[in-house]
Amino acid sequence: MPSHLPLKRANCADLKLIHSFWKALSPTELYMLSGTLYAHPLRLKQLRQDFRALQDPPEGIYCFYDSGQLSESGPQEIIPTGQAGPGGWKRPLVSRFWPLWRLSHPGSEGRGNVLGCFQIRKREASTAMLAAVFIRPEYRRMGHARMMLKAGFHEARRLGLSRLQLNVFSSNPAIDLYLSLGFRRAGSKKVQLPDGRTVIKVFMQIDLG
Ligand SMILES: CC(C)(COP(=O)(O)OP(=O)(O)OC[C@H]1O[C@@H](n2cnc3c(N)ncnc32)[C@H](O)[C@@H]1OP(=O)(O)O)[C@@H](O)C(=O)NCCC(=O)NCCS
Repeated sequence: MPSHLPLKRANCADLKLIHSFWKALSPTELYMLSGTLYAHPLRLKQLRQDFRALQDPPEGIYCFYDSGQLSESGPQEIIPTGQAGPGGWKRPLVSRFWPLWRLSHPGSEGRGNVLGCFQIRKREASTAMLAAVFIRPEYRRMGHARMMLKAGFHEARRLGLSRLQLNVFSSNPAIDLYLSLGFRRAGSKKVQLPDGRTVIKVFMQIDLG
């Protein structure tokens, strides 16, 4: 994994941050992200319980950070100009109160800015599920998910996994990401989303070699 693209296991501060993103998701968005893993509205307590259950590597909640210099100066400096995305109005506030934010999120120092995250959930000896793949809205379409998952494959291999599986809905553009990374389709089934729509859930897997 290139050293400028750190992938680390989430800490408590990261967990609070992830919760702050996910609690705003609609029932359908949360379902698209994580299937039946979490109930809507997502409570921090539920995320913490899951975090504790995933403490033994290779299981875990993994976060993808930028270079790490950013935690010294605040997030505004690293957000590319012109990337007005959801939540953009919050950036000047977060930046102005960055020292306070850091105080209220102990453990965030020196780790950089969280761009996204994913989970590894073990199934069999050397097979695990890749779940809840997420990139913050303002950092999307810049290749971050691709970089994060490549780093994740490296880590999964290092930790003894040889196969990763995942579920994705056929309407989710993430499916193209997974195909381009080498995942292949291994089946599908019809499911109903919380908003009543019927969609196809696609099962995919990749052999890490
Ligand atoms: C899916 C997600 C992780 C992609 O993150 P990202 O950093 O924007 O993805 P990347 O920039 O690395 O894109 C990689 C490829 O994925 C596909 N892709 C990703 N988002 C897409 C979109 N909105 N529309 C079309 N294709 C898209 C493209 O093929 C893209 O390659 P390209 O840029 O060369 O065309 C992000 O959109 C997300 O967090 N979505 C909400 C949660 C979710 O649905 N997760 C997946 C659960 S299975």
